[in-house]
Amino acid sequence: MASPGSGPISPTPSAPPSTKGVRRRADSAADNPQAQGGAFFGRRKGHRLRAGQAGLFDALLPRLALDLAQPAPELATLFPITVESVRLEIGFGGGENLIAEASAHPTVGFIGCEPFVNGMAKALAAIDASGLRNIRLHHGDAADLLRWLPAASLARITLLYPDPWPKRRHWKRRFVQDERIPAFARALRQGGEFRFASDIDSYVAWTLARFLRADDFIWPATRADDWRKPWAGFAGTRYEAKALREGRRGTYLTFVRR
Ligand SMILES: C[S@@+](CC[C@H](N)C(=O)[O-])C[C@H]1O[C@@H](n2cnc3c(N)ncnc32)[C@H](O)[C@@H]1O
Repeated sequence: MASPGSGPISPTPSAPPSTKGVRRRADSAADNPQAQGGAFFGRRKGHRLRAGQAGLFDALLPRLALDLAQPAPELATLFPITVESVRLEIGFGGGENLIAEASAHPTVGFIGCEPFVNGMAKALAAIDASGLRNIRLHHGDAADLLRWLPAASLARITLLYPDPWPKRRHWKRRFVQDERIPAFARALRQGGEFRFASDIDSYVAWTLARFLRADDFIWPATRADDWRKPWAGFAGTRYEAKALREGRRGTYLTFVRR
């Protein structure tokens, strides 16, 4: 199948990202990401990429990466096919859910965001193998991406099994923060959804508390199955599988933008 990276699809193609500067950028971001409005505190790189994976970073990612140095266009124009709406997945890890959703909904555009090099490499391999044409990527911090996106441009934001930062002194590192709720609200259109899953009860309670006190969202759940059962068609993720193996269950929260 033809690779989605076989032709230019971005009206504003970004400079080819390279893995060479990753360590340097990670170090400077790690100094104090919050001071720069950043929200990424994790590892940026794991094991060394295989040659094929590194090749996709150089050849495919530049074609799919969003150019945050330019003002955001209308999001539908980012895709080489007609899309009826656009969804964002933050911290997609290895891309299991992103790829499953993009395959199941070929007329929806998906933006996947992941700063972890090895996760991005896995997703690139899956996109290359599948020929999916409804995915664009941001290899960086979702806080930057949220600032860049046009207002009311997304039908859905998905955040699955985010880093839980269980120690109290690290709670400020959690991606869900009171200060970030307005950024979610700004990017979502009216009636759009923010979907959150976690196996860590304290993070579930943390997220619920923050959305419940935010004026821009409602939590329409009426019975326990609304948060105990995964969304219809949800394929799961690597972290969910790990949680299940270790005897923990996911909780699934859906908030609707007023
Ligand atoms: C615990 S993993 C879960 C991965 C995947 N969602 C899953 O369920 O398997 C959390 C992911 O969020 C990513 N992440 C952390 N901070 C982020 C940020 N500020 N922007 C985007 N992704 C972020 C990490 O790199 C990591 O891949």
